[in-house]
Amino acid sequence: MTVRSDSRWLLSLSRLVALCVTLILGACLTLEAAPVLASGTVPEIPGATDTPPDVLLVQSPGGTVTLTFALSEGVPTYAVQREGCDVILPSRLGFSFQGATPLDGDMVLLSHTTRSFDGTWTQPWGEAKEIRNHYNELRVDLQETTWPARQMAIVFRVYDDGVGFRYELPAQTQLDAFEIADEQTEFALSADHAAWWTPAMQPDRYEYPYRRSQLSELREMDLRVQTPLTIETREGLYLSIHEAALTDYAAMTLQVGAEHTLHCELVPWSDGIKVRGSTPFRTPWRTIQIAERPGDLLTSYLILNLNEPNALGDVSWVHPQKYVGIWWAMHIGKWTWGPDPQHGATTEHALQYIDFAAQHGFDGVLVEGWNLGWDGDWWAHGEQFDFTAPYPDFDIEQVTSYAASRGVKLIGHHETAAAVANYEGQMGDAFAYYRALGIDTVKTGYSGPGQGIERLDENGQLLGIEWHDGQYMVRHYRKVVETAARYGIMLDVHEPIKDTGLRRTYPNMLTREGARGQEYNAWASDGGNLPEHTTILPFTRMLAGPMDFTPGIVDLFFDAYRPDNRVNTTLAKQLALYVVLYSPLQMAADLPENYARHPAFQFIVDVPVDWHETRVLHGAIGKYITVVRQERDGTDWYLGSITDEEGRTLEAALDFLEPGITYVAEIYADGPGADWETNPLSIEIKETLVDQDTTLALRLAPGGGQAIRLRPATAADEARLR
Ligand code: NOJ
Ligand code: CA
Repeated sequence: MTVRSDSRWLLSLSRLVALCVTLILGACLTLEAAPVLASGTVPEIPGATDTPPDVLLVQSPGGTVTLTFALSEGVPTYAVQREGCDVILPSRLGFSFQGATPLDGDMVLLSHTTRSFDGTWTQPWGEAKEIRNHYNELRVDLQETTWPARQMAIVFRVYDDGVGFRYELPAQTQLDAFEIADEQTEFALSADHAAWWTPAMQPDRYEYPYRRSQLSELREMDLRVQTPLTIETREGLYLSIHEAALTDYAAMTLQVGAEHTLHCELVPWSDGIKVRGSTPFRTPWRTIQIAERPGDLLTSYLILNLNEPNALGDVSWVHPQKYVGIWWAMHIGKWTWGPDPQHGATTEHALQYIDFAAQHGFDGVLVEGWNLGWDGDWWAHGEQFDFTAPYPDFDIEQVTSYAASRGVKLIGHHETAAAVANYEGQMGDAFAYYRALGIDTVKTGYSGPGQGIERLDENGQLLGIEWHDGQYMVRHYRKVVETAARYGIMLDVHEPIKDTGLRRTYPNMLTREGARGQEYNAWASDGGNLPEHTTILPFTRMLAGPMDFTPGIVDLFFDAYRPDNRVNTTLAKQLALYVVLYSPLQMAADLPENYARHPAFQFIVDVPVDWHETRVLHGAIGKYITVVRQERDGTDWYLGSITDEEGRTLEAALDFLEPGITYVAEIYADGPGADWETNPLSIEIKETLVDQDTTLALRLAPGGGQAIRLRPATAADEARLR
């Protein structure tokens, strides 16, 4: 059959693909795929019916969320509802290409399939041990009605806590190698909701304070924002729009267009192309998480569920850790990264830190500034870094063998200053070098402007200056994770690409930065992170995954080093951050000599980094949050509660505790008169007996917090505390 474009033909096409199906759990309907195309033809499509229009509906397993797919005059669209309330109004789907016509209209439905899935998988480490993956899926196979009759599929997975969908471009002669000029995906929101956002495609990458604005204000500002983008709807629902499984594509940013519609704006290559690929091809998942309470966004595992299972096989070598390091001393200016008289990474300092780590049961000691190439400029001369050449005052053999003798491991450091070509050239050797020294965890760094990555050819000629989160760097970051895994190395990435849940596939990808961390309090000219910052992060950046925030500063003023900077929290809040901000690698970030003076340090020593279960007791974005977590393979629970600059008292019902057991609550609370601004060091440490029926009043000072360890009481505890 040759191409026909008369309206009679289009009409019959629209009839023959017309299907209106409400998915009944387990129902499965499959139409035959179209025959292979000969050049210049479009297929006959079997299965004609007379029931317009081309609409397919899928409900989540519990019936809460409904996804509607429709071909609207040939344009693929989707919409999402939650319990009858519009979440996403009909929104376009599709692509435009460089050098080819767009694939976003004139389409017919060749076939569709539905299926249900319900399974539980175990995280090798994480914020929860068991994760249920329960969804109903709809796959639609589409084809252009006119030449070149290209095919595209869209797969929707509908969960009770949201929706994920992705495009598939099957192998086809009409669409082989391609260059995506734009992804047309839209998220048409139903009203002028409020969003918590950071700007995208900016010099400081993901490191900006969050702001709350109406969508209409964002439209006026005419800027792109990062995902996860968290939205509070007019109806009081909480949404997070993000992506899952970003492995060979450009990062998605969002821009508000007309009618409160968010448009997918991919981060381009230096030549403006968004994505290069060839069929068969699958995009990352576009995700919309939906919750009634903000806290439920934190315990939604939709992003992880949409990633591929562990690809590394036996990962018993991967394990969460707590660490100290030669790090904060450089940020506050006590020591330096470079080889001058104040050099931090000396053998002597490293041995002291190892002793401190061993004494208090820490797993690792990070040493930054140990290798040739540090010249005092974080953002430049990255090509000078040599990842197998320690400075002469750092005897790495002596340090690593001493560490081994004390049951501690060094955490390696690869600062690249974003000189990616230099790093890729050395990466294998660099990991092998560490591995031979017994180092199995490496922190990487990509300090440099958002668009500052020099892409070079084999001869070192400059091909383009790339963004940190364009496709070139997505590929790089993934290459690092895969290479590290081959050498048995776990990763902590600073200045990373945003997290999209790849830790499920590559469990050696432990944690990353990707937001303003503690370091900003050491030197930022804007005065550092405001008290509200850490009450926003759990509901925004951290919906993507763990963050190496590096909490635990107890000398909040460090006036001896930087009198103009300080940490804008109370001391108790620093402790609470270990529970609130999830990371399988947690640093005790302060100087060892500062911990020596503080009884509060005991909480940092005790707090685990691997969890059986996580619950959010209170959550109001940018105001307060209380998280409780049960340690993995243990009986203890930990509670962290923090507030913004407002003081408040929150009631915490301990009904999660095991019935019939009395626990000791080891409480680290803001002390009398505590206030982040005027009296941040006031802390009260006390013990009390509690059980499942207890409700604790958590009194949080302005900018304060509270950290509690709950452990089963011994007879001696009961005698002492009754
Ligand atoms: C920025 C990272 O976030 C920080 O942790 C590191 O110390 C510096 N770069 C130097 O590598
Ligand atoms: Ca940083």
